[in-house]
Amino acid sequence: MKNYFYTWTDQSKAKHFEFESAANHILSLKDNKKVYDLSSLSCQASFGHSCDEIIQSIQKQMVSFSMASPKADFSLKENVTNSLLKLLKLKGKIFYTVSGAESIENALKMARDIKQKKIIVARQKSYHGATLGALSVTGDWRNLSHETLDDWTLRIPEPKDDPDATQAISLMNKCGVQKIAAICLETVTGGNGVFLADQKWWDKISSYCNKKQIFLILDEVLCGFYRTGPPFGFQDYNLRPDFVTLSKSITGGYIPFGAVYTSLEVAKYYDDHVLSCGLTNYAHPLGLAALDAILKLTASKDFLENLIQRELEFESMLRAIEKLDSVKEVRYKGLLAAIDMHRPPSFDDFLNNGNYLMVGDKTIILAPALNYSAEDFKKALHFFKTTLENRNG
Ligand SMILES: Cc1ncc(COP(=O)(O)O)c(C=O)c1O
Repeated sequence: MKNYFYTWTDQSKAKHFEFESAANHILSLKDNKKVYDLSSLSCQASFGHSCDEIIQSIQKQMVSFSMASPKADFSLKENVTNSLLKLLKLKGKIFYTVSGAESIENALKMARDIKQKKIIVARQKSYHGATLGALSVTGDWRNLSHETLDDWTLRIPEPKDDPDATQAISLMNKCGVQKIAAICLETVTGGNGVFLADQKWWDKISSYCNKKQIFLILDEVLCGFYRTGPPFGFQDYNLRPDFVTLSKSITGGYIPFGAVYTSLEVAKYYDDHVLSCGLTNYAHPLGLAALDAILKLTASKDFLENLIQRELEFESMLRAIEKLDSVKEVRYKGLLAAIDMHRPPSFDDFLNNGNYLMVGDKTIILAPALNYSAEDFKKALHFFKTTLENRNG
């Protein structure tokens, strides 16, 4: 047994492996074994492990200053915030954090504070982070062992079981809109299986929010930054969120970092009310430097052209494996996919056959890096497809 914990597992049954180094999209394990990462680690290593632009930007910033007071104004902070708001195509302000869970916590705190209401509406299937507030809106096994704010959460059914949101709306009416501060949703459910809601469902939910003056919090910690195609997942559904929570790909995993977009209405509220939110490493300059590099590199024609090609190749591989007997269902959008298997998939099987992947009980989550080269991507997908083809049932 090691002297450190593994996350989300019984320690004696933890899946782990000897890791030595990483380059581009390849992890080097013990005995010089190389595996292609098809999940961007936990969906954060979206620009691979050797992204010169990000590394150089962080290094340059370290030489200038590596830390800053939350009170400090500096051009990097202002310029990056402007560029992020531009990419979001929304007016408002950004609150910086150091993780996805903290982005959610701060959005929930602000929503409850402004509305002076406690209830947050959340989906049956969702993941929003490991802190108690974020876990209380999370809908999966991870909140079962903790006492979370269940009385403050209203669960609505999954969109596939309620395609025109009739049940969701009736549950909210029954609860009483005077008690509801916000609806908190992953725009595209990520780790829990890539479940997409139709435009009709989003239209109903967003117009209900508008009509009843309920905040819409969109969790884009996983699906933000081109993961599902557009810069942000909500841009495909014509939504105007009050909060958008971001992390993971915001720095490609190079620095722990996160952000919360807040609308003008939220921003204005705090012009003359105390914003009772903060953290020691607020707007960390190294996080901002990584984000700066990502905003610049994703704006390039080369990045976008390469991304579209990889999306097409990914889709064609998914279409092919859909036909295998071992595969039950495939769901995907952009470079994010869930593959439900008839039999539990094995993390070790994939690792032994050349791929690092996120593997659940019966579902594989794929989230390859957004800047894979054509050659490496072909190899990575080939190993994956071959492992699946060689499974029986
Ligand atoms: C949609 C979503 N929200 C929030 C989180 C929490 O992020 P973190 O682990 O950085 O706290 C995750 C992490 O997987 C996530 O997928």
